[in-house]
Amino acid sequence: MTLLPKPSPLTSQVGPISMTGNTKPFVVLGVSAGIAAYKAVEICRRLVDAGVHVAPVLTERAVHFVGATTFNALGSEPVQTSLWNEASPIPHTRLGQLADVVVVAPATVDLLARYANGLADDLLTTTLLATAATVVVCPAMHTEMWDHPAVQQNLATLRSRGVVIIPPEDGRLAGGDVGSGRLADPAAIVDAVLGLLDSRTPLDLAGVRVVVSAGGTREPIDPVRVLTNRSSGKQGHAIAEAAARRGAEVELVTTTDRPVTHGVTVHRVETAADMEAAMLDRGAGADVVVMAAAVADFRPKGVSPSKLHKSDGIPELILEPTPDILAELGRRRTSDQILVGFAAETDEVTERATAKLVGKGVDLMVANDVSAAGVGFDHDTNAVTVLGADGCTTEVSLTSKMRVADAVLDRVVALLSAR
Ligand code: C5P
Repeated sequence: MTLLPKPSPLTSQVGPISMTGNTKPFVVLGVSAGIAAYKAVEICRRLVDAGVHVAPVLTERAVHFVGATTFNALGSEPVQTSLWNEASPIPHTRLGQLADVVVVAPATVDLLARYANGLADDLLTTTLLATAATVVVCPAMHTEMWDHPAVQQNLATLRSRGVVIIPPEDGRLAGGDVGSGRLADPAAIVDAVLGLLDSRTPLDLAGVRVVVSAGGTREPIDPVRVLTNRSSGKQGHAIAEAAARRGAEVELVTTTDRPVTHGVTVHRVETAADMEAAMLDRGAGADVVVMAAAVADFRPKGVSPSKLHKSDGIPELILEPTPDILAELGRRRTSDQILVGFAAETDEVTERATAKLVGKGVDLMVANDVSAAGVGFDHDTNAVTVLGADGCTTEVSLTSKMRVADAVLDRVVALLSAR
């Protein structure tokens, strides 16, 4: 089974709990301390090969069975084992919020008991309690333990809460015994996880032409210096990738060099003027245009052809307005085109975004308060309010930028189907 979008070759990340810029499906792979932990290595590798971003979380005792180095080499980000990490004081909420699926393989008797009873004394159990994602547990243990009423009762509790249980198989167990309790086949576990990820993906944008802008523009002062802003392009790229995953024909006009999933046609630009030309050209005839880019509002008037030198004194920077691309797209649009803008604000967020919704003639304005923690520029997460010209409002609380992208596209799909 493969996933849409197809795997990008760039999967490795840096830093112990670095934010990833990830736009792939995100799976937390929990590994608890059973002999079958070595099989989780295979699960990790297969998921990464299928284009999934895998964040391995090992319990401290699991490390006795399989080394963190192995998962560090194969996963999409370094292994985490502890809640006590100076660089990231609340790793479980980050993992819980970003996860599309959390899969625990193997899940030991002890892990199942702690999870079923709401105990959260390590990174894996806190992540399990801090996520709204689908959780898959893959028990592995000796037959006597598997048959114990305490284990079966805990599994029944988890099942009643919507946890997906992949039961163990019959076969050879540690120590040479034979019976039920052997971890399910890693390939079957991977197929189940990919199936859960695939099932989230309706092809509801099939045949729709979508043009997206992303990133912050750079306006030259001289051949060396630019005026720019803090936009990373992650949200715009997530929208392009989510639209492609949902079947759209996607063109992305971006100022960044982030890798882009197969299936998205990319046009790299630098300035507001470049972006205007690209967006007006590609926007004409598109079914959906999303201006997620942070376009400079002002640019230096008259670029110095040669480098400005300190020895010549402090230069006087005279600015001029850039073209408002979204407003121009709003003027040129046809009645059957859906136009989406973004409003990054720090105060009076809804009021300002509503004024832009009306003033720029768009259907949807995605407003975010970039002064809030974890929201907007350069984060992997975002929290937005999607305001509609039709009066509908959707609140999306703090979650991955890919989920925000899907929430925005859900509104786009609703508008397309009403036209
Ligand atoms: O007016 P403001 O810059 O806050 O509006 C934000 C929205 O307008 C975003 O969708 C942004 O991409 C777009 N915009 C534009 N051209 C500009 C400035 C902003 O298209 N010069």
